[in-house]
Amino acid sequence: MPFLSDTLARVSPSPTVAVSQKAMELKAAGHDVIGLGAGEPDFDTPDNIKAAAIAAIEAGKTKYTAVDGIPEVKQAICAKFKRENGLDYSPSQVAVSTGGKQVLYNALLATLNPGDEVIIPAPYWVSYPDMVRLGGGEPVIVETTLEDGFRISPEALEAAITPKTKWFIFNSPSNPTGAGYGHNQLKALTDVLMRHPHVWVMTDDMYEHLAYDGFQFCTPAQVEAGLYDRTLTVNGVSKSYAMTGWRIGYAAGPEHLIAAMRKLQSQSTTNPCSISQWATVEALNGPQEFLAERNEAFRKRRDLVVSGLNACEGITCAIPEGAFYVYPSIAGCIGKTSAGGTLIDTDEAFATALLEEHGVAVVFGAAFGLSPYFRVSYATSDEALSEACRRIQTFCAGLS
Ligand SMILES: Cc1ncc(COP(=O)(O)O)c(C=O)c1O
Repeated sequence: MPFLSDTLARVSPSPTVAVSQKAMELKAAGHDVIGLGAGEPDFDTPDNIKAAAIAAIEAGKTKYTAVDGIPEVKQAICAKFKRENGLDYSPSQVAVSTGGKQVLYNALLATLNPGDEVIIPAPYWVSYPDMVRLGGGEPVIVETTLEDGFRISPEALEAAITPKTKWFIFNSPSNPTGAGYGHNQLKALTDVLMRHPHVWVMTDDMYEHLAYDGFQFCTPAQVEAGLYDRTLTVNGVSKSYAMTGWRIGYAAGPEHLIAAMRKLQSQSTTNPCSISQWATVEALNGPQEFLAERNEAFRKRRDLVVSGLNACEGITCAIPEGAFYVYPSIAGCIGKTSAGGTLIDTDEAFATALLEEHGVAVVFGAAFGLSPYFRVSYATSDEALSEACRRIQTFCAGLS
């Protein structure tokens, strides 16, 4: 009898974690490594949020809470959805979990049966397909291209839908491309979904606040009210509020789905951290001005990285609408050999040679389901980004 479960064989270890691990090993061995792999803001959690957490500890708010969130945080989430997205939800339609990751995982595990299909546009956030497989479902990957801005077309969505489709996972602005869907682009997708009433929408809005050049964020249930009863709107404080370590994500949707997610969570992790929930109340109800200030810093970095990468021979980089990632194509580098003698036949070979020969850690595109590309996270200092671009230029110039 095998010791490990068959379920485990359906998932692969996170490639983004593997890249960080390798970069750390090289650093520990004394190499000068610039990490552009991390999926988190380099900014600190704002002081008012930290103070709310300290106050919660001092007030003894350190015990178990209601499984899917204290009433105060649910109220703050309902107010956020109303204020920012024009969506009406009551507290019984809201679930709070240990990070956006647990929200998505709960929702998939609570709804998937063997053979159920989940449509995922590629490139995708690394965890979606594995979470679907863990839940016993089948990921249906629909590739997008640099030329169409890494946005799934209505035709491609329509073609991917079958009687077995349970969910369409939507992520805007996207990890790993930063691509965002404007109102009309999203409306074209929701029009397709209106023709297929058995398909539910799981919208991952984690990067909502990280948008540049006047890009107007919108979310499916806001664009098409007809989808409200079959949409799970997922969000969290990790990225916008620089709170990745606090582990709070949340979702709103139909009560019966939220109840199913709560049931699952009650038998796994119980409530998310009580102190982090109080910090989230402050994050959502407190001052929001810092978001615009930080976005201005992110926008400058995006522009710096996009122009630095487009100056590299063989690389083409689009200007994305949001998040803190860019996803350049290396089509012009494939088939060449690096100065260090590595044949660049895949984006993984490109990323490995770049790390080993020039000390720049990026994540290769195959990890996100679309090659030949790589992902750069520009949530790091201007100096590190300029130096990284200089090294990538040298690396590309050395390809022959
Ligand atoms: C698109 C996307 N969704 C969800 C998550 C998970 O967020 P959290 O850290 O809150 O679990 C991430 C984190 O990288 C992400 O990029």
